[in-house]
Amino acid sequence: EKGTYPHYMLKEIDEQPAVLRKIIQAYQDENGNLSLEQETLEAINGADRIYVIAAGTSYHAGLVGKEYFEKLAGVPTEVHISSEFGYNMPLLSEKPLFVFISQSGETADSRQVLVKVKELGHPSLTVTNVPGSTLSREADHTVLLHAGPEIAVASTKAYTAQVAVLAILASLAAEAKGKEIGFDLIQELGIAANAVQTMIVRKEEMEGLSFDFLELSRNAFFIGRGLDYHVSLEGALKLKEISYIQAEGFAGGELKHGTIALIEEGTPVFALATQEAVSPNIRGNVKEVGARGAKSCIISMEGIEEEGDRIVIPAVHPMLTPLVSVIPLQLISYYAALHRGCDVDKPRNLAKSVTVE
Ligand code: M6R
Repeated sequence: EKGTYPHYMLKEIDEQPAVLRKIIQAYQDENGNLSLEQETLEAINGADRIYVIAAGTSYHAGLVGKEYFEKLAGVPTEVHISSEFGYNMPLLSEKPLFVFISQSGETADSRQVLVKVKELGHPSLTVTNVPGSTLSREADHTVLLHAGPEIAVASTKAYTAQVAVLAILASLAAEAKGKEIGFDLIQELGIAANAVQTMIVRKEEMEGLSFDFLELSRNAFFIGRGLDYHVSLEGALKLKEISYIQAEGFAGGELKHGTIALIEEGTPVFALATQEAVSPNIRGNVKEVGARGAKSCIISMEGIEEEGDRIVIPAVHPMLTPLVSVIPLQLISYYAALHRGCDVDKPRNLAKSVTVE
């Protein structure tokens, strides 16, 4: 029930700190260490390469997950759009593990891949919010998101839950290999949950920014580098699906390879700059689009912020910024849809779970 909330989407955005805390609890053993069912852990550890299969927002979470599996655990990982994988299968490694990420566990495109993978005899794991869902029943292993029912078509809390759970899986994979990840993930996830809370409290400010940047826009761009690039894709999807503003997320470095041609006087550009190593480059991109008339909203992080940044998220571990930087983007999309009189929870032409190919 949405209670006093005008929309499920807003309620679900608000639930994110609690969801993150629930996940931290759910994956902790009685000694306070991260833990997972032995069999599931063995499946992850037995793989020489992970193939993530997902669609939409879950695919975007998978892109972040790849960074975790590779950078924290040293497991080579590929992320594939489920609808493409069926007929465009890459060469597989000797011991692949297929990880299906799906909020609903019912996405037909993903299920089609699972059927194929099972025919080939490869192990599979579903990361889902719905116990007993088709993808959960049919895969060898299931890892739950613990996000609670997500009703709004636009996925919000499932995304942050997916990112957090993937970080936990990667850190457990690292531990099994005797690799140090170099930080206390439980503690850092707790810090991230608090940072998410801080951003949620700033709703009015986000509403103002949404109005300021998107009131009269037909289109909008989201740019980022590294982890921020993955979040920019999610920001663009969120905006387009509920507000019908044409939005594109892309890698900052790609600007000059085409997209910059679209920049006109007043074009809104949301630039994510939470990654210290590439922050100067993305700021360079902001100057480039600014010189062509773009109106930029820089989203940075405490500690690496600069004067004029419109949104500064609290400092969190650099690997966990996607959990926090996505919040203002969710809120800005929500308010853009609201101001345009769109049906926020049930956007046109869309279903919550896409059970047809
Ligand atoms: O249930 P799933 O995670 O498999 O759904 C995948 C996509 O259909 C879903 O994420 C879709 O892109 C959302 N509406 C995005 O907000």
